[in-house]
Amino acid sequence: MPENTMEKPNIVTCTAPVNIAVIKYWGKRNEELILPINSSLSVTLHQDQLKTTTTIATSRSFKEDRIWLNGKEEDITHPRLQSCLREIRRLARKRRNDGDPALDPSVLSLKVHICSVNNFPTAAGLASSAAGFACLVYTLARVFGTEGELSGIARQGSGSACRSMYGGFVQWIMGQKDDGKDSLAQQVEPETHWPELRILVLVASAEKKSVGSTSGMQTSVQTSCLLKHRAESVVPGRMEEMIEAVREKDFVAFAELTMKDSNQFHATCLDTYPPIFYLNSVSQQVINLVHRYNRHYGETRLAYTFDAGPNAVIYTLQQHVPEFVQAVQHFFPPESNGGQFIQGLPVNQAALSEELKQAIGLEPMPKGISYIISTKAGPGPRVVEDPTQHLIGSDGMPKHTV
Ligand code: DP6
Repeated sequence: MPENTMEKPNIVTCTAPVNIAVIKYWGKRNEELILPINSSLSVTLHQDQLKTTTTIATSRSFKEDRIWLNGKEEDITHPRLQSCLREIRRLARKRRNDGDPALDPSVLSLKVHICSVNNFPTAAGLASSAAGFACLVYTLARVFGTEGELSGIARQGSGSACRSMYGGFVQWIMGQKDDGKDSLAQQVEPETHWPELRILVLVASAEKKSVGSTSGMQTSVQTSCLLKHRAESVVPGRMEEMIEAVREKDFVAFAELTMKDSNQFHATCLDTYPPIFYLNSVSQQVINLVHRYNRHYGETRLAYTFDAGPNAVIYTLQQHVPEFVQAVQHFFPPESNGGQFIQGLPVNQAALSEELKQAIGLEPMPKGISYIISTKAGPGPRVVEDPTQHLIGSDGMPKHTV
């Protein structure tokens, strides 16, 4: 082959979902391997609304590994990226040495070009690292022919990413071993298990999050005795109760545990020294709205949860969505006529009764919430078969850059 001729790359594209924890992961016992101090449980969101797409190309002509995120080339030497690349190549080598005839040995030495985009704004403050690393690991595994248990590798990119390797309801079992081999994600129930469950992401008006989760949880582990108590004495029982609530589709139990666990996570942030504040006045208003709504009906119909930022994620059942969305529009009047206020799954119009407005009785906060993404539980990572969807062209370079 003449030197200046590019060898046609082999190209694979996959997608992976975002997940939102209802029992939160906060705190590591091993920073490098990303081993947590407690188990956690999440719901995988549907990729029709929120997903990462990653294309990986390999070619003998590539001189080095390279990565582009949302159109911009990034530093491939980032330690967490390197962990994922190293571990997938190690696994591929092991499978080959174990005599898997399906594996082409020459592929192991090939360099990769990685290109990844999100279909949601990074500014939305959603856990983009979970979907991003899950997608990276899933796609790399396809490229190197190493399918199977991969959550332990995704975990080494970002802890919460291990839960995005499965659809539906997923637990991350903390494990006991020092080498992390037993710290893996496992599906509790598939996405079809609870079809009435709905998830609304209430995107609070743009504000950059103050402290990232990696450094935030480091300070919490060092300084918060509430976090130690939570990990040792609270979460083990809550995990059992949550798994039971999911299995039984017991919304009241699911919702109350979800809210209590979010509140305890944010209490450990306040117990961190110096304290970390992720909730803002909009988040507090959402918490009040949810409790007053539930109180009005004498029944827990809604649950909120918050990660390392002010956006609320609401869990509810399908039949309550239209009225609640109407209440959000009333208490957080949007900028224009509200046309683009609701994105994702369609939401029917509903009337808001005077009684409910009065029972809630909050002072409206104009433009406090920029928009709502309406979604449901969804499947795990997928291969995209349609080659027109590849993010990398036949020249081995991204089709779009910024
Ligand atoms: C509050 O997985 O982003 O969203 O492992 O350091 O990458 P690293 O942290 P990350 O932390 C997520 C924390 C959380 C709770 C959760 O998703 O369980």
